Amino acid sequence: MPVAVAPNPSVAASERPVPSAAVEVTAASAADAPALGAPFFELRDVETHFPVEKGFLFKRRVGTVRAVDGVSLTLARGEVLGLVGESGCGKSTLGRTVLQLIPPTAGRVLLAGRDLTALRGEALRHARTDFQMIFQDPYASLNPRMTVYDCLAEAMTAHRSVPATELPRRVGALLETVGMAARFQRKYPHEFSGGQRQRIAIARALAVEPQVIIADEPVSALDVSIQAQILNLIARLVRERNLTMIFISHDLSVVKHVADRIAVMYLGRLVEIGPAAEVFERPLHPYAKALVSAVPIPNPARERDRAARRVILAGDPPSPLNPPAGCRFHPRCAYAIEECKAAQPPWVPWDETGLRRAACIRLKEING
Ligand SMILES: Nc1ncnc2c1ncn2[C@@H]1O[C@H](COP(=O)(O)OP(=O)(O)O)[C@@H](O)[C@H]1O
Ligand code: SF4
Ligand SMILES: [Mg+2]
Repeated sequence: MPVAVAPNPSVAASERPVPSAAVEVTAASAADAPALGAPFFELRDVETHFPVEKGFLFKRRVGTVRAVDGVSLTLARGEVLGLVGESGCGKSTLGRTVLQLIPPTAGRVLLAGRDLTALRGEALRHARTDFQMIFQDPYASLNPRMTVYDCLAEAMTAHRSVPATELPRRVGALLETVGMAARFQRKYPHEFSGGQRQRIAIARALAVEPQVIIADEPVSALDVSIQAQILNLIARLVRERNLTMIFISHDLSVVKHVADRIAVMYLGRLVEIGPAAEVFERPLHPYAKALVSAVPIPNPARERDRAARRVILAGDPPSPLNPPAGCRFHPRCAYAIEECKAAQPPWVPWDETGLRRAACIRLKEING
């Protein structure tokens, strides 16, 4: 189902500043791709590991799930970054780590230069209001026992004082912003359809006036026709409010309509990043190629042609409990050679802008 969504004009291609620094292929300089403007929101070498313990009374650590294992990202203000990858690759854990709902094992999360990982207590609670999360299941952020009015008014007044007499008008205006009639304020979440509920959950996130939104599979549970409406709504709100967003999805076809850039994640690490249209049209990393080739095209002739060239990924993704050594993709990669098992591949910039890069030692050969 084609979805007509205008790209985010705040970072339109013609306005994108070309990074001035010459790109060198060193582990340090290539660890992160430049943002589409001045850095606003940054992840630096973020790791989130979960201990695996055995025993009842005397617990002992028997392993570590490396759910997120060294992710660096820089976003400009107003940018939407699509984060894609198979289920279990660490996308949700990364989202929760950004909000400090799970403390990172290592690394830093910075907003406008301020290190959120260094904050504790009240300072952290306050800083969290700059971030909001939108989930696949709207009930994750909506209390089923609260009316829409109570839910939105609570979010609106949690960190700001709004005169009580003003609240009904503001809640009504917010509902209209997300395409719902103001008269729905007195209803409960269960009285709405899935799409309407997701609109209310989006309104709740906006009520806190955040700067950054982490949208975790926000349309994955919706019918395809409704998905398009919600995607259009998200794209409009990002544009109007100059929001910065990480849009998480296992479905590339969803992400390509809202994202300015796409980052591809595999087993806790990023393997490719670049402008959305370029990654979608010509993925460079073997894993990204497989992901993109699995997306059906709504044109039967082109789809037949693509089906013949489809890259089938063998096997399930390995466990982040014992990730493969070297390039984590090597057990499933059709291009793997002995060297791939030896060391984690460095980021290789693809062009002089440095915006496109992938972590593969055979990148130039494969895409030559
Ligand atoms: N609280 C937890 N304890 C242990 N392992 C976890 C926990 N949360 C997530 N994981 C594991 O971390 C990996 C990444 O999970 P997740 O971030 O949910 O992936 P995704 O959102 O990409 O599907 C999975 O292997 C998952 O089982
Ligand atoms: S580094 Fe090797 S195993 Fe990894 S993606 Fe590239 S060719 Fe495949
Ligand atoms: Mg998830």
